[in-house]
Amino acid sequence: MCGIVGYVGPESAVKIVMNGLSKLEYRGYDSAGISYINGDNLIVTKKEEGRLLNLEQSLDFSEIYSAAIGHTRWATHGKVSRENSHPHPGDGFSLVHNGIIENASFLKEKLQSEGVKFSSDTDSEVFTRLVEVEKSKGSNLRESIISAFRKIEGNSAFVIIDQETSTIYGIRKNAPLVCGIDSSQTSKFISSDPYAASGINELKLETLYFPENDVLCELKKASLEIQFLDLNLKSTNLYKTEKNFNVGEDSEKGDFEHYMLKEIHEQPKLIRESLIHYFDNNPSSETIKNLKPSQVSLTACGTAYYATLVIRDYLEAIAKIQSRCDVASELRYRAPFFQDSEIGVFVSQSGETADTLASQQMFKEKGVKTLSILNAQNTSLQRESDHTLLIHAGQEIGVASTKAFTMQCLIGRYFVELLSGQKLDKKLEAKVLLLSKKVEEVISRSDEIKSIAHSLYLKTAFFFTGRGELFPVALEGALKLKEIAYVHAEGYASGELKHGPIAIIDENVVNLAYVGRNLIDKTVSNIQEIKARKGIIFSIGNVETKELEEISDYRFSIDIKGLDELTPILLNVVGQLFSYYVAKHKGTDIDKPRNLAKSVTVE
Ligand code: M6R
Repeated sequence: MCGIVGYVGPESAVKIVMNGLSKLEYRGYDSAGISYINGDNLIVTKKEEGRLLNLEQSLDFSEIYSAAIGHTRWATHGKVSRENSHPHPGDGFSLVHNGIIENASFLKEKLQSEGVKFSSDTDSEVFTRLVEVEKSKGSNLRESIISAFRKIEGNSAFVIIDQETSTIYGIRKNAPLVCGIDSSQTSKFISSDPYAASGINELKLETLYFPENDVLCELKKASLEIQFLDLNLKSTNLYKTEKNFNVGEDSEKGDFEHYMLKEIHEQPKLIRESLIHYFDNNPSSETIKNLKPSQVSLTACGTAYYATLVIRDYLEAIAKIQSRCDVASELRYRAPFFQDSEIGVFVSQSGETADTLASQQMFKEKGVKTLSILNAQNTSLQRESDHTLLIHAGQEIGVASTKAFTMQCLIGRYFVELLSGQKLDKKLEAKVLLLSKKVEEVISRSDEIKSIAHSLYLKTAFFFTGRGELFPVALEGALKLKEIAYVHAEGYASGELKHGPIAIIDENVVNLAYVGRNLIDKTVSNIQEIKARKGIIFSIGNVETKELEEISDYRFSIDIKGLDELTPILLNVVGQLFSYYVAKHKGTDIDKPRNLAKSVTVE
């Protein structure tokens, strides 16, 4: 969602902020803007709709201005427009915001009744005006920020630049914010995502600070350190420090046309490397073995939620532990029952998904221990979890999650083995190595999938189906196709189609049918039902029954012997590649699909 970057120091602040924003493009945005302090010590604000390139064209990079804040906006309150984009300047300052001010309408009405004028439809401008009103009463900027911050409700992060001193302030409540400083202690950086600081030649951050909620960060031009203050403006140590921070080397596209394709190709290696992380005395192993929960509650959103369904199957079938899965945005408003020795498991790539974090808080408030299965380190989810299992998928840039899903399921499998008191042994290791090889095989046969995608890309309705352990990947396959190819797709349990959706099957509807190792005859019967109504059948799986051969219009067949419960992870890769090639044939923006954000930090 919205990306925030700020810099104060001896380098070109405009260049660094623009570079930082370009690193955050992958998160999704529809407009961008920047405020910097010019040579006459005045704030200059530029904003443009659309891609960063539009903003870049309006900037002059020849001058070195020493302080700037920038923003990429993903519209929530108010349409996509220049007025609604950030920064929102006020009297002697300018600010950017990520999150939602929940009582914005109330505050706005109140301010308007006092004669305050607004120039945008955003909730963010409400904060600007609140700060302005406080300043007009004689408070200094940082006091005004705190007073305004105390008045708002909801989860937000703000970064504010002061015209008089070039100081940059940051403050957050349940929205990500990180500050950093270089070894010479002259360059200071602030962002909603540490990744914004990666690969910028002029910026070699040595230490990163992750402030807790309600901590005001003060990045002063002249100071050799970043100050952290509580809401009473007293110095505080409520922040985490990380030295020699490394956001990872795998953030470039290399020879691949899209990050999504690169990330699909990374999977065999990541699967193999998981053995190094988990089979040789992983420090969490003993802790997990001793958890002995009576129930495991799994919670997540989107693709990560589908990974929880795969993990639930492992919990039931292998560890024989009762478990439930919930979509975080629903769970947080329900009143679930908790058991005494239950644990809450939260699965997330970004570690910043607002609904997942809110659900985690619900568990914590009930005294339930939480564990995260997580990709991005040093994120809110990790900080709030009692235990974390990292999936080590590396930076995932493509908005459509691929390698993170694969690794979430796989690490989920390790988690279940440990939870059932088992050692990660040779038998499981052999299956994992086989999975890696088989994923390589699927990728090496990409042309077959590409050609099927070419035959089907103009179809307007797709049903992804699977039974049992393949139902979660049917859901995941449909989501992938929807998000990058903008085509209607649904994931269904094969046996459910005849309870309604079969009514819309005709010669224009495609059924991508996953056929695995279980319930084969029943699955084939379900496919027959669709075939009988002229549906187009694309079957994916290994089972060479004559009947399946005969009824499939398109077929991707692969030997799954020996993979056992890892079969869904393999077959899902076929779905990933199919969606990728359908989207490519349609010419959509694969890595940054319209309307989507990589990290959904608002409700
Ligand atoms: O960062 P998270 O894993 O918590 O994100 C959850 C979903 O927003 C995410 O999986 C989303 O559904 C992806 N775009 C799917 O490809």
